[in-house]
Amino acid sequence: MEKVIAQSARPSFDLDKRAISILRENDWGGYTLPSKGLYPYQWNWDSMFVALGFSEIDLDRAWTEVESLFEGQWGNGMAAHIVFRRDMPGYFPGPRIWESGHNPPTSGLSQPPVAATIVRDLFEKDRSFGRERLRELFPKLIKWHRWFHTMRVISGGTAIAVTHPWESGRDNSPDWDAALAAVDPTGVTPYTRRDLGHVDAAMRPTKDDYDRYMKLVEYGRSTGWDHTQITREGPFAVADPGITFILMRADRDLKALAQYLGHRDSLYEIEGWLKTAYDTADYLWSDELGAFAARNLRTGDFAQGISSVAFLSFYGGLLHPQRDVQLLGHLHRFLDKVSYGIPSFDPEHPHFEPRRYWRGPTWAIINYLVTRGLLDAGLFEEAERIRQITCKMIQKSGFYEYFDPLDGTGAGGGDFTWTAAIWLAWASPMVDASPEHPPIHG
Ligand code: GLC
Repeated sequence: MEKVIAQSARPSFDLDKRAISILRENDWGGYTLPSKGLYPYQWNWDSMFVALGFSEIDLDRAWTEVESLFEGQWGNGMAAHIVFRRDMPGYFPGPRIWESGHNPPTSGLSQPPVAATIVRDLFEKDRSFGRERLRELFPKLIKWHRWFHTMRVISGGTAIAVTHPWESGRDNSPDWDAALAAVDPTGVTPYTRRDLGHVDAAMRPTKDDYDRYMKLVEYGRSTGWDHTQITREGPFAVADPGITFILMRADRDLKALAQYLGHRDSLYEIEGWLKTAYDTADYLWSDELGAFAARNLRTGDFAQGISSVAFLSFYGGLLHPQRDVQLLGHLHRFLDKVSYGIPSFDPEHPHFEPRRYWRGPTWAIINYLVTRGLLDAGLFEEAERIRQITCKMIQKSGFYEYFDPLDGTGAGGGDFTWTAAIWLAWASPMVDASPEHPPIHG
């Protein structure tokens, strides 16, 4: 089912074609690589954005992407952050480092759970086509959400912890600096990084960070990937507004799907999770920053600056008049300070670095998620502004992994699948970007 793209002289037409070929070139038969050189396996949330992109041109293939990701789901419910299907010796840390004991081999962590939201999108595109596939996927999705709500919360709290910066999907964000500095890297097994063979070191996490990333992997492996122990006692546990708001949103979408399927027990369980949403938000709100912020669960300390995921509260479905005014003030400030926002970290903070991965650059997937939330909250002007910036940035530089917010230069890996997918599903001027769903009736 090829998307019908009208012949047009608009520059986006070529970009639409290029985006489609990037998805096809990285399709390794049922699953898609984020980028052939840098990331040659299946990554969790990348795949879900890719599914959204595929749903514009081939709905069947889009469902397959989600189904293949869940082949990496563990018995305890965790959908792993990487699924290693072939041995790619050029990638580090590969399956032998993780020792997940799962088949197919996986990493030992998870990633932001956008899947239920995307599954709902696929289902809404063609309900009769998706009905059986939804029925199969639903128990897997709810099991994964249950894993987050039980295994990644601490002592009566409800904010979702990440136990490794990689789990957040925002590897070297300043949000993790203080908690990561407390991880002692002494004695880490010597290793050779492979990412630096593909991308300039100035754009990637530093060696200090990387030593600690590896130390955390060694710790998880030493517990036999006992996630209760890792969350409660491990060297790193930070409540992440990104993953927390993404899960909140996914819970709402899962609830709509449970309603559709008539799963009353599931409905009840999901409502229980959603009831705590405002308590969770209170925990993550920093009066000092006037924004939601990451919080170290071992010390209670907030991150020192504001990350773009603070603006995902709208996507999570939270509304709070006084807080929202402050958040929107920051959002406008972030966008006004640079030409190609949303910068991933406060552009006025001393730790802002415009090209170093999650310490400042703009990411098309985050722009997309924030915008969905803004649209839901009726903030159309801000939503349209961000969409136009994203469109301009990709037209200027191509389908890079991320972008320098100051001048829009593409950075990291080129021909990156999630940027291509977001283009097809949302940023291209050819798309009618209204993600609203009709209500679900039993
Ligand atoms: C990096 C990103 C993460 C992404 C992965 C594959 O680790 O930080 O969000 O999923 O690359 O693209």
